[in-house]
Amino acid sequence: MNRRDFLASLGGLSLLGLAPGRAQAGTMHAMAHAVAAPVELAPLDALPGGAPLGALTRLANTSGQPGLFRATLRAAPVNMPLIAAGQTEFWAYNDGLPGPLIEVSEGDTVEILFENRLPRATTVHWHGLPIPPEQDGNPQDPVPPGGQRRYRFTLPVGSAGTYWYHPHPHGDTPEQVYRGLAGPFVVRAKADPLAGIAERHVLISDLKLARDGSIAPNDANDEMNGREGQFVLVNGQHRPVIVFDAAGRERWRVWNATSARYLQLTLPGATLTLVGTDGGLLEKPQAGLGELLLAPGQRVELIVDAGTAGGMAELVAAPYARGKMGDVAPDQPVRLLSVDFGSPRATVPAPLPATLARIDALGKPRAGKRVVFSERMSMAGGQHSMTFLINGRLFDMKRIDFVSRAGQVELWEIANEADMDHPFHIHGTQFQVVERVQDGKTVKAPYRAWHDTINVKPGETVRIKLVQHFKGIRMFHCHILEHEGAGMMGQLRVV
Ligand code: C2O
Ligand code: CU
Ligand code: CU
Repeated sequence: MNRRDFLASLGGLSLLGLAPGRAQAGTMHAMAHAVAAPVELAPLDALPGGAPLGALTRLANTSGQPGLFRATLRAAPVNMPLIAAGQTEFWAYNDGLPGPLIEVSEGDTVEILFENRLPRATTVHWHGLPIPPEQDGNPQDPVPPGGQRRYRFTLPVGSAGTYWYHPHPHGDTPEQVYRGLAGPFVVRAKADPLAGIAERHVLISDLKLARDGSIAPNDANDEMNGREGQFVLVNGQHRPVIVFDAAGRERWRVWNATSARYLQLTLPGATLTLVGTDGGLLEKPQAGLGELLLAPGQRVELIVDAGTAGGMAELVAAPYARGKMGDVAPDQPVRLLSVDFGSPRATVPAPLPATLARIDALGKPRAGKRVVFSERMSMAGGQHSMTFLINGRLFDMKRIDFVSRAGQVELWEIANEADMDHPFHIHGTQFQVVERVQDGKTVKAPYRAWHDTINVKPGETVRIKLVQHFKGIRMFHCHILEHEGAGMMGQLRVV
């Protein structure tokens, strides 16, 4: 059945009978949850906005030793009175939404004692960090309910950047993240060319609340397109207000920590300059950004300039067509936060440094891999089903999909043969985009940058270069978490 027929067959259907491909998902059965019927959601005004944006809570370093960051991180259920209709039970790191900011310097050793007080097994995955696989919270290393483990790794010089952490248990990542488990991680450079500019943290997450205040379960549409809530939060707050730095310039670190929402960010009235991506600063500032697409899992560093006018502005996620399927309402612009630029200014800050960092091109590839995203649609037994695949297969923890050599440069080709955008993510390293191919046209990457997550549009092929430096098993997957959880994931063994 082709996509048009499939979609036509869904026309007007409430999607109640639409089960995603989990039933055929082989080893994915274990944690697969029944797909719930849509529940009545809390109205948008149930969560008031307008409060000043708070700073992220920092995880305190209890080590007295220079070069060592030591702390305890606990995952546990916590009740918060978010809306008047009733309490919300989140699953949270150290009782906070989002989890606490872990802030360290390059070269530091990080030692986190992790305690699991959830009713399920979990792991802590350090998204984007160049650390050994056995410390990276792979699904192969679950921490049982009531259990604990110590994560320990050293962050090499050159790893300064904007990262995050979240659970990665087998088949259960989507639910654990949408219940609240995700937190920011910043690695600071020893010498930072942008030091002195006021820094702002903007961590964007998604929340879908039922009318009674409980976290709504995923319905069939969430399973297919990835979950989006009626609320989009910034540092756990709904539509907060940033009171902008008096100097007229801020450096924003922005995280897309949503399960599946694409953020086409716009901030009319301000000037945006891209200075960093997932794995740290660019070589040169990229000025003149009108809008910026941040796919699920990605981060950026931006310089926001207020100009001289002053006044208020809105950070909006404009609609982005990502090929959603089924009976879904058209996307609307989402107001994320307001910025109060204050009164008009006479002067603007000095130009940014022309050079920010050095990014050496990864050399000539010695090996290659090809990753193909596809989708399978069927109506077997009168039931609609949708499965998202990598190289025609679903994830199997017992299967190794690729083998790579530690230290060897590889060219990976990520081809999206599905009809929906899918963000590709690989653990343990940062990669460089070489080029993108769409409709037979090849476009070279306009500048060098470090990424661990990259969007691939339908029909597009993205070529990237990467090196894995540690032996062991690495996951790669779509970062729409419902797709990852349902098996759009593979395993790389580095030897
Ligand atoms: Cu942020 Cu394997 O994930
Ligand atoms: Cu990751
Ligand atoms: Cu996907």
